[in-house]
Amino acid sequence: MPSIKKLQISTFRNLGQASLAPAPGLNLIAGENGSGKSSILEAIYYAGLGRSFRNTHNTPIIQHEHDSCSVYCELDTGIKLGIGKSHDQGLQIKVQGEKAQSTGELAKHLPLQLLNAEAYKLLEGGPKARRQFIDWGVFHVEHQFYTHWREFSHCLQSRNALLKKNASAAELEPWTRELVRYSQELDENRRNYLGQFIPYLETILESLIEVEGLTFRYYRGWKEDESLEEVLLHNLDKDLSHGYTSAGPHRADLKIKIGPQYASYILSRGQQKLIVSAMKLAQGAYLAKEASNLCLFLIDDLPAELDRANRVKICTLLRQLGGQAFVTGTEQDVLLETFSNSGFDPEECKLFHAKHGRIEGLDSALLAPPKIS
Ligand SMILES: Nc1ncnc2c1ncn2[C@@H]1O[C@H](COP(=O)(O)OP(=O)(O)OP(=O)(O)O)[C@@H](O)[C@H]1O
Ligand SMILES: [Mg+2]
Repeated sequence: MPSIKKLQISTFRNLGQASLAPAPGLNLIAGENGSGKSSILEAIYYAGLGRSFRNTHNTPIIQHEHDSCSVYCELDTGIKLGIGKSHDQGLQIKVQGEKAQSTGELAKHLPLQLLNAEAYKLLEGGPKARRQFIDWGVFHVEHQFYTHWREFSHCLQSRNALLKKNASAAELEPWTRELVRYSQELDENRRNYLGQFIPYLETILESLIEVEGLTFRYYRGWKEDESLEEVLLHNLDKDLSHGYTSAGPHRADLKIKIGPQYASYILSRGQQKLIVSAMKLAQGAYLAKEASNLCLFLIDDLPAELDRANRVKICTLLRQLGGQAFVTGTEQDVLLETFSNSGFDPEECKLFHAKHGRIEGLDSALLAPPKIS
């Protein structure tokens, strides 16, 4: 699949001890502001990626006045993931009870897609988030990608260090050669992925939002009509004076435009949210079809900025994808109303309520379709 069968969270943000047995389909989490809804999604994200989804590096996920926090997930695939962080020992990751070397091992087992206020900035923010978006997809379908990416990053760091020291062309040459080699691999991986992914995106967009002239164009990080070797040679003086490599796959982007303008300059907040949702749902659809793998969706505050019809459309698409989803909102009635119009089987769904850092499962009768008298 995978989906989470059992989730245990300990002293993570305002969640003291939380133990949940989520449903395989939709999990709705309602609760007032500050009750702990986003913290649950953040804990799941932490178990899948080994980092918080908040921007800041030092965001305090460990509950105030505690020394450590942990998240434990049992998946329907039989995989058990555990992640803990403590003030003394830093991060500790376990897969099947064994210490794991890197967070990449988590991501393999628990592919996640996050839709929250930050994710909706995919259109208006810088290219880094869009590169990460592309790379998420490539990572899950192209197994060599992670290795290529690590090798590339090593070459880039080494080359940049030499540039900062004003190294000679001869000293730079071996790193430049390797950098070019891995850049070509990364570019090819990304290009192949996008070539196959875009048709999925177009299908999902059609069912979610109509925007005349919307285009998604891949920029590889250097000019299409020149080789990276030529560009790096041409840029050498500039790179030496700046102390970094100005062209390469670390500058890639997915340019999202309407006609000549960036889509974020034109579209409303709600429309941007729909396009980002379509992009993420399409990655889920692509993974399901092309890699027979379902990803788990974390959707924080679904109702924000979306009208009723669009909320239902997103939930209907989630149902069609067939994976597990966690959807939060402040108003239980709004979540239930969306749920009841999106065709989910109540047997596959659960409703939770967050209050002052405590999470309780609510009566599943609330999810039953209303009786017609
Ligand atoms: N390290 C921490 N220790 C204890 N509490 C924390 C920590 N970090 C954040 N909090 C608190 O946890 C609470 C829950 O935050 P969370 O973002 O999960 O709320 P929420 O239910 O998503 O609210 P909203 O509806 O406003 O988005 C907040 O009151 C926040 O101040
Ligand atoms: Mg929140």
